[in-house]
Amino acid sequence: MAINLDYPPGATPLDADELASLIPGHITTQGELNEWEQLNIAQGENRARKHRKEILNEAFLRQLHKQMFGETWKWAGEFRKTDKNIGVDWHKTGVELKKLLDDVHFQIEHASYPPDEIAVRFHHRLVAIHPFPNGNGRHARLMADLLVERLGQPRFTWGQRSLTNGSLVDASETRQQ
Ligand SMILES: Nc1ncnc2c1ncn2[C@@H]1O[C@H](COP(=O)(O)OP(=O)(O)O)[C@@H](O)[C@H]1O
Ligand SMILES: [Mg+2]
Repeated sequence: MAINLDYPPGATPLDADELASLIPGHITTQGELNEWEQLNIAQGENRARKHRKEILNEAFLRQLHKQMFGETWKWAGEFRKTDKNIGVDWHKTGVELKKLLDDVHFQIEHASYPPDEIAVRFHHRLVAIHPFPNGNGRHARLMADLLVERLGQPRFTWGQRSLTNGSLVDASETRQQ
């Protein structure tokens, strides 16, 4: 069946190979996909919150992506193998990620910035590296939330002050801003 997905601004378009990797067979619209992904992500987040060990390493980063998207995309938890309109050269994701994680460890150890600024800078660089074929926005926001909570601060609101002013996933005014 043909799949016709609308991308909100800033969403990474999927190429044909990636679309072929959708696990549930019944999904044909963006709305159905969003709903399915949301359930998968909620389960993944629950599991991530039970994790008691270190989160600032490549293994946890990939495991979190797999837990968030593993029921949805066959490549969940795998780094991308193509270039996107955003992100580093795909060959460099591993190296850039290592540099980022080393820097964040250093910043925490030396209190280089306030905790929320460390997490915001981490989010910015993680989403700029764009390690995965899709889901980088949601993954990087959850990683930043997990980090800032471990640094003793409340999680971020990501522009969402109430349930009615729009999440960052749909093409809401909040996402556009
Ligand atoms: N121009 C931009 N400026 C800042 N962030 C951007 C821009 N374009 C894309 N992004 C980031 O990339 C994410 C989209 O990447 P994507 O892999 O599709 O993640 P998701 O599927 O979770 O939305 C956005 O949520 C945002 O975090
Ligand atoms: Mg996307």
